[in-house]
Amino acid sequence: MFDSLPRERLAFLPTPLHRLKNLGNSIGLEELWIKRDDQTGLSLGGNKARKLEFVLGDARKNRADTIVTVGGVQSNHCRQTAAACAIAGLRCILLLGGKEPPNYTGNLLLDKLLGAELKFYPDESVLTLKTRLDEVVETLKDFGLNPYAVPAGAEMPVGAIAYAIAMEELQVQAQKEGFLPDRILVATGTGGTLAGLIIGAHMLDLNVEIVGVSVLSDAETTRDRVCSLISRVIDEYPEVGSFKPNVLVDDTYIGEGYGVLSDGVRTSLGMFAKMDGIILDPVYTGKAGLALVRMALNGDIPSDSPTVFWHTGGQPALYAYPELGTA
Ligand SMILES: Cc1ncc(COP(=O)(O)O)c(C=O)c1O
Repeated sequence: MFDSLPRERLAFLPTPLHRLKNLGNSIGLEELWIKRDDQTGLSLGGNKARKLEFVLGDARKNRADTIVTVGGVQSNHCRQTAAACAIAGLRCILLLGGKEPPNYTGNLLLDKLLGAELKFYPDESVLTLKTRLDEVVETLKDFGLNPYAVPAGAEMPVGAIAYAIAMEELQVQAQKEGFLPDRILVATGTGGTLAGLIIGAHMLDLNVEIVGVSVLSDAETTRDRVCSLISRVIDEYPEVGSFKPNVLVDDTYIGEGYGVLSDGVRTSLGMFAKMDGIILDPVYTGKAGLALVRMALNGDIPSDSPTVFWHTGGQPALYAYPELGTA
């Protein structure tokens, strides 16, 4: 799949697929599995490592000398982009929506350590930074540089295809274990990961329900973004073939908003950790974990139906939530 595309090897692949035995037993799922993209390796792992392999491949093809991207102050995407640029020898500029904190922690601390140039925009959020990205790119061009703009979360066709390939990786691993998943749950922000998985399932002709647990926008907005990205992928990569995607998004778990910790998320972090030693993150996988537990306990998942929880990483953000350490 997509073998001829330029690619920078950044991730340790395949990531492990293993059972979540204790959690599965406690919530009545006999066939609960976890796909460990928190173990992609790149600067503490996460889902962006896969996308960045193709994004940087494309940047090199375009002879870029500087990568510019955007995110929140605790963006996992920005941290992994900084690491990818360090490996590839590219300059990295991160435009961060939010105030510069007096002390750097979590992902921000790592951004600095990885040598990225940081610019803070106190009055902007990840959703409004696109204009700033365009402005900075134009200024760099005026200085004779050749910048490459990466949107928030690397939500672009060349990023999404990485998750089509990841779906093939999962299929091979699952078959070796003697099953095929009926259902996948994945935390969803910009939607690129979900779009890629849906494209992969289509290309492999897999009958699997893929549920994006939204942490950012309502279901309709997220579905529209995912559908539009899938259309762009179909246009750019004819080998995908035209199809009408069935995009399932659950926005029940956004709670008070992006990055806001709830009691439910605390419970889900605790259950994964105490039962199977799995560390989730407070922004993305904590909410997807909560969705999994609630769906199982509500009886929405048949007990013998193979279910994969796709861990997308994000743990460095834990250190930016000191309230998690209080009794
Ligand atoms: C840990 C983690 N999980 C999930 C996501 C969501 O991925 P996507 O933006 O492709 O929907 C992100 C995005 O930043 C993330 O950092």
